[in-house]
Amino acid sequence: MVHTLFLENLSLSAEIIKLAILGATGSVGRQALEVVRAHPERLKVVSLVAGHNLALLEEQWEEFQPLSLAVADSNSAARLQSRPAAKLGGKGCHILYGSQAISQIAAATEVDMVLVALSGILGLAPTLAAIRAGKKVAFANKETLVAAGPLVLEALRAEPAAILCPVDSEHSALWQAMWGERASTVRRIVITASGGALRDMPLAAIDQAAVSAVLAHPTWPEMGRKITVDSATLMNKALEVIEAHYLFGIPYDAISVVLHPQSAVHGLVEFVDGSIKAQVGPPDMRIPLQIALLYPERQPAPWEKLELANWTFAPIDPERYPALELGYQAGRLGGTAPAVLNAANEIAVERFLGGEIAFGEIVSLVRDVLFSHTPGSADTLEEVLAADAWARMAAGSK
Ligand SMILES: NC(=O)c1ccc[n+]([C@@H]2O[C@H](COP(=O)([O-])OP(=O)(O)OC[C@H]3O[C@@H](n4cnc5c(N)ncnc54)[C@H](OP(=O)(O)O)[C@@H]3O)[C@@H](O)[C@H]2O)c1
Repeated sequence: MVHTLFLENLSLSAEIIKLAILGATGSVGRQALEVVRAHPERLKVVSLVAGHNLALLEEQWEEFQPLSLAVADSNSAARLQSRPAAKLGGKGCHILYGSQAISQIAAATEVDMVLVALSGILGLAPTLAAIRAGKKVAFANKETLVAAGPLVLEALRAEPAAILCPVDSEHSALWQAMWGERASTVRRIVITASGGALRDMPLAAIDQAAVSAVLAHPTWPEMGRKITVDSATLMNKALEVIEAHYLFGIPYDAISVVLHPQSAVHGLVEFVDGSIKAQVGPPDMRIPLQIALLYPERQPAPWEKLELANWTFAPIDPERYPALELGYQAGRLGGTAPAVLNAANEIAVERFLGGEIAFGEIVSLVRDVLFSHTPGSADTLEEVLAADAWARMAAGSK
């Protein structure tokens, strides 16, 4: 029999993983709960965190009976206390609120694993709290690594018990392709991009594209609004390039992005001998979520499987997608530049969704803010948050 590297000797655990889901009512959070429903023998929800969607949180509370819940503010917490679910499942369930409560939940002793599915910089403090408490962290919140990559890596070095499992489909693909390989044999990595909702729109029309057109993603229809806009500008890929740089320790020159409209091949790793390993699957976040939540086990899943088809790859057009180059520039500048890129983009997207600026102004606004900033050190939480606050103010006032 030929010698294989199958993980036959990996002892499969029958232990229940106690899970905190930060961002339970969002797109990633809801899909994570579907994974929990598919594996009730392995995954148990002990904490749920949400912002303002109290109706959905209440349903999740009744179904999963967590030990603690946290919401964005005291009003929401008070409203939740008065809901019928508080009487039904409330016994022993702590209802908390505010950003400190999210970090408290992320570090709580009853939690084995934390899924960070909050959107934006809000994910940073709880991610650090979870790592410092030695948790396994399933990590969807790319903005945190972009803004504070060195800080997160330093926290991981200081707490060897903590593990970061990527959830973003592209990073999950790269991660899976690297399993069983030596880091030194990776020559380059390739991230695929669907091209977003406007990929076939005539160039001349893009600048004035309507919000509804931008939000109509062709292959990932269930994503939150912010990431869907980022897919249309390709800022999402810009952020993913920086995320991959920190996650895998790969230099920017060895990270490339290709247009792949079918969203079937999520990421490719080329090794020093010329071999390329790719991870391929349907555009379904439940697959990377499951592999992160149950890592290192690969378990059966009930979701629809992929039909093989004609997949195509093409270079990215820099004129259509100027955000990608901006991401590389911010990444190479380093220090606080990626935090500024990320924060300016969050505000620009908000302003576009609020009807204040045109689609075509998103990237130029982010560029203006980035290049009016002098990058400084981003070694502490305070430095990152100060750069983030400055960029928000600058992007809000231009
Ligand atoms: N969606 C995807 O397919 C996908 C794929 C890869 C990576 N990601 C990344 O995953 C992250 C989440 O994306 P998403 O699309 O799931 O976002 P989303 O649908 O907007 O969900 C965001 C979640 O954060 C919660 N939240 C917002 N403000 C809060 C606050 N102040 N306190 C507590 N909770 C708060 C929201 O609660 P309420 O809704 O209750 O207000 C919601 O549960 C992002 O970093 C994104 O880039 C997403």
